[in-house]
Amino acid sequence: MRSEICRSAARAARTLLSASTRQSSRAFSGRAAAAAAAVSLRGRATSLAAHSRVDPGNASRSWISGLLALPAAAYMLTEQEAHAAELERTFIAIKPDGVQRGLIAEIISRFERKGFKLVAIKIVVPSKDFAQKHYHDLKERPFFNGLCDFLSSGPVIAMVWEGEGVIKYGRKLIGATDPQKSEPGTIRGDLAVVVGRNIIHGSDGPETAKDEISLWFKPDELVSYTSNAEKWVYGSN
Ligand code: RTP
Ligand code: MG
Repeated sequence: MRSEICRSAARAARTLLSASTRQSSRAFSGRAAAAAAAVSLRGRATSLAAHSRVDPGNASRSWISGLLALPAAAYMLTEQEAHAAELERTFIAIKPDGVQRGLIAEIISRFERKGFKLVAIKIVVPSKDFAQKHYHDLKERPFFNGLCDFLSSGPVIAMVWEGEGVIKYGRKLIGATDPQKSEPGTIRGDLAVVVGRNIIHGSDGPETAKDEISLWFKPDELVSYTSNAEKWVYGSN
């Protein structure tokens, strides 16, 4: 029941956030509005929660007080939790060359150290058909067949990373497609030499990120959580 309340609260917070972001004339950002709601309504939420704790006897009554607590629980979200609800996500894959070269930890650590949050990860050997779906936008290119053969030739680490600006900045961490042109300091710049073995994939925009995440992961494989580091990674003065 508690996790159901949390999920409903998160959903309510997202609704609150998206409603507030839709209003172009608003003075607050979506995050600020949610945080303000969290602070101003916390007292009310606490009293409702207290009510459901002192009167647990009747099952239907406690179910009803649970329902009453749902909107209240949404307002109890901390600023960090409200912030996490609006963060963007991207799909990142370590290709078979990156896996075989023992670069999994190195690549993950670059995203982790930046302050991005890992919300899904698995190791899979994609089928050729699956690889073709993943790279469908390149099907007219001469290297398409070889690229799909390669992606399906061995284990791939599929991941979803979350954070402010993670789609665009993830591409910066990765570097240019051709490692000969990638800057030193980027993943491809530091760790790869040729375009056919550039070790990592990253979504190139919000639509692609959404499509790739749903191609590689079922919704219940994505984990929403507040990282302890979040309050040190995000904030304004
Ligand atoms: P990715 O999708 O893998 O993150 O790479 P990207 O956006 O930087 O580049 P994209 O144009 O989407 O190309 C996908 C992958 O195809 C291979 N490629 N080979 N032989 C070639 O000239 C060539 N060009 C691209 C690379 O593995 C590239 O990552
Ligand atoms: Mg691409």
